[in-house]
Amino acid sequence: MKIISTDNYDDMSKKAANIILSQVIMKPNAVLGLATGGTPVGTYKQLVEWYKKGDIDFSEVTTVNLDEYRGLPREHKQSYWYFMHINFFNHVNIKKSNIHIPDGFDMDAQKVCKEYDNIIQSVGGIDLQLLGIGNDGHIGFNEPATVFETNTHCTDLTNSTIEANKRFFENGEEVPRQAYTMGIKAIMQAKKVLMVANGESKADIINKALFGPVTPEVPASILQIHPDFILVADKAALSKINVN
Ligand code: PGA
Repeated sequence: MKIISTDNYDDMSKKAANIILSQVIMKPNAVLGLATGGTPVGTYKQLVEWYKKGDIDFSEVTTVNLDEYRGLPREHKQSYWYFMHINFFNHVNIKKSNIHIPDGFDMDAQKVCKEYDNIIQSVGGIDLQLLGIGNDGHIGFNEPATVFETNTHCTDLTNSTIEANKRFFENGEEVPRQAYTMGIKAIMQAKKVLMVANGESKADIINKALFGPVTPEVPASILQIHPDFILVADKAALSKINVN
């Protein structure tokens, strides 16, 4: 595990974007696992800026997103499909056919999940997986549970996640209660995992996930045993780490 401490959100975003930039330079046809949420917005912004300057080319890149709310059509302003297009895909030269996000509007969970695992397999797995971390330790929408769910699955969101995501919706009732998410296997099989975290509100969970016991009760804790895991976080998010 490698921890990169940054001064603030902008610094975190730039350093994380740099790691993605070097991945794409090293392997122009890389498979990038992508994440939504407030934290990676600055990372995408930086990548778009470099793309516009001609410093990075996404024409051969393939993307697989971590998750999608179940029941939201693509056009819904809070769907992750919409988020990814507004924040990233609409501004760079990724081929539409190379973009993969679970189809949240298809209510046939078994079909959606199986198809998504087939897609991940058919693109040859993930070279670099970008992750945020939920206040409850979730990665993607792998919520705290009694076992690590390996494959893409349909999950009930925890109260903590619904509470955290309320800020994006008009009211709490509108937050979907379920989501489709990539499982722990695809994330752990990614060659490199890059987590971004910022702010004091993430300090407790970062400490617990990275220095507490590895347990499905804290899904991100599994990353402790990933062979190439990098956390890029600001000082506030790292403030509770017990260096001993
Ligand atoms: P956030 O969400 O970036 O909005 O804090 C992270 C997550 O839930 O994975």
